[in-house]
Amino acid sequence: MREFIMYSRKGVTSSDFTLKDLPGSGGRMDLNARCVISALWLSRDLRRDSRMVFSLNGPSDPPLAMAFDGKELERVTPDERNIGLWIKKVLERRDEVDGDWKEVHDGIYLSEKSFQELIKDRQDRNLYVLHESGGDIRSTDIKEDPVFILGDHIGLPRNEEGFVERFGSEKISLGPESYFSTQSIVLVHNELDRRR
Ligand SMILES: C[S@@+](CC[C@H](N)C(=O)[O-])C[C@H]1O[C@@H](n2cnc3c(N)ncnc32)[C@H](O)[C@@H]1O
Repeated sequence: MREFIMYSRKGVTSSDFTLKDLPGSGGRMDLNARCVISALWLSRDLRRDSRMVFSLNGPSDPPLAMAFDGKELERVTPDERNIGLWIKKVLERRDEVDGDWKEVHDGIYLSEKSFQELIKDRQDRNLYVLHESGGDIRSTDIKEDPVFILGDHIGLPRNEEGFVERFGSEKISLGPESYFSTQSIVLVHNELDRRR
């Protein structure tokens, strides 16, 4: 399975945001929604072997983590507004979550896990931090069951990057430019699709 974890500094942890203003009222929830599309959809199919997780650290009650799993997703369409709506619906049921993951809708999970807990839970997997200054992905052996960790529009906070490094992660670059988070996800998929 290909898993992507994005650290969202401002992504809100309450459902009190408007679909008309995902960037402002949602704390760049537009970015999270687009990452879900890039991680899980092909032109004519869902990527059933992929999962998009985001760590939400914005107001009013962080942290929260939300996961969209391509294997189980139902009735979700690949447009930003529709995914924003599902994020809102899931956050409306925040009270039902007590710590660990709960499947709130088919293929959409919510938990109170912090970014560091998400990483600790995956310490036995192959962790790759997507970073402009990493080694070239084209000369990197991407092992089984990879987890790719990326930053939002501002980048991964230094302390979180340092935390991931403690678990033997590898830092990899996707090319000479700084890409959007969504573009980075597509580039990883493309590279792995070509290798398959
Ligand atoms: C818009 S970029 C963040 C830019 C931010 N200003 C910075 O300097 O870190 C969002 C994320 O995409 C990933 N990314 C962007 N360009 C990349 C590249 N060339 N190689 C690997 N990852 C990249 C990184 O995870 C980054 O945190």
